Amino acid sequence: MTVGERLPQIFDMKSAGSRRAGLAAAVSALRSGGLVAMPTETVYGLAADATNPRAVAAVFAAKGRPRFNPLIVHVPTLAAAARLARLNPVGAALGEAFWPGPLTLVAERAGDSGIADLATAGLPTIAVRVPAHPVAQELLRGSGLPLAAPSANRSGRVSPTSAAHVVADLGDAVAVVLDAGPAAIGLESTIVGVNGEAPVLLRPGGLARERIETVLGRSLAVAPIGGAPIAPGMLPSHYAPAVPLRMNAEAVAPTESLLAFGPLLPEGAADAVAIVNLSVAGDLGEAAAGFFHALRILDACGAPIAAMPIPNTGLGEAINDRLRGAAAPRGSHRI
Ligand code: TXA
Ligand code: MG
Repeated sequence: MTVGERLPQIFDMKSAGSRRAGLAAAVSALRSGGLVAMPTETVYGLAADATNPRAVAAVFAAKGRPRFNPLIVHVPTLAAAARLARLNPVGAALGEAFWPGPLTLVAERAGDSGIADLATAGLPTIAVRVPAHPVAQELLRGSGLPLAAPSANRSGRVSPTSAAHVVADLGDAVAVVLDAGPAAIGLESTIVGVNGEAPVLLRPGGLARERIETVLGRSLAVAPIGGAPIAPGMLPSHYAPAVPLRMNAEAVAPTESLLAFGPLLPEGAADAVAIVNLSVAGDLGEAAAGFFHALRILDACGAPIAAMPIPNTGLGEAINDRLRGAAAPRGSHRI
């Protein structure tokens, strides 16, 4: 793409000529960390390379999300999904029955999948989906990348069911828009958690609950996303380190680790147990991209974490939201 070219590039995927050019532009944008509006049978998705933390951070920035919700990772086949998620027999049966299609499964994350921690918001689980839309399929196969894609709307707005919605909402934050006409289903995918003992309906959507229950041969418990776990053993839906964390630290004790931000370290930094700097340059995009990884490293050190102040602008708002969650007393649930 040449410098100064107006974004986004919009391609009509119903015409054979521009379809090929659109796919090539989209693949190249994704490979260089750019964002692509991808048609799916449910709603349009804002797709990024799920293995590239900076690209995933750009998704959150484009949506203006005040918090890091975990994203759905899209793949072309059940076999590809099974490489990212540990699907138990129930998960595999649902994937077999309904993929490709409007179903998302939340399952335990596979160990060495290469998926950015920011895409799963640091959770030990991952949401995976195999979309049926032919353009989504071609993009997944053509790029060879797992694509993290939330609905392509700005935070707080309804999910987009046409390319025009995407452009109106996200404008130049997206490099390439693949316009395949109105979304066939127009409702987001149904999300089923298969990471616990019994499958649970986390979000009703484009796949009717009855159809899932028919395959399962049993009824589905309901546990809305963000609600408290309904059964013992169900994981909370937000990552928090096991060690205590305090925010806006102006100084760090020799018994603490430091979660730093920016070039100037606080008093006591030289004697801290460990230091991870989210961005020496003070870049919030870089900080967001490495945020969950940094928390994991410091968590593993075992010492309480002192977190330096993070500006509450842009992606800083979502970082602070997650820090507040991590700083909350254990056992309290954030909704
Ligand atoms: O139809 C769809 O699902 C569309 C298209 C683009 O595929 N995508 C979509 O994504 O609706 P989004 O980000 O708008 O909604 C994803 C939902 C969020 O509510 C998120 O919290 C939940 O999935 N989610 C993702 N990963 C999760 C996880 N590991 N555990 C629990 N919930 C998860
Ligand atoms: Mg959404």
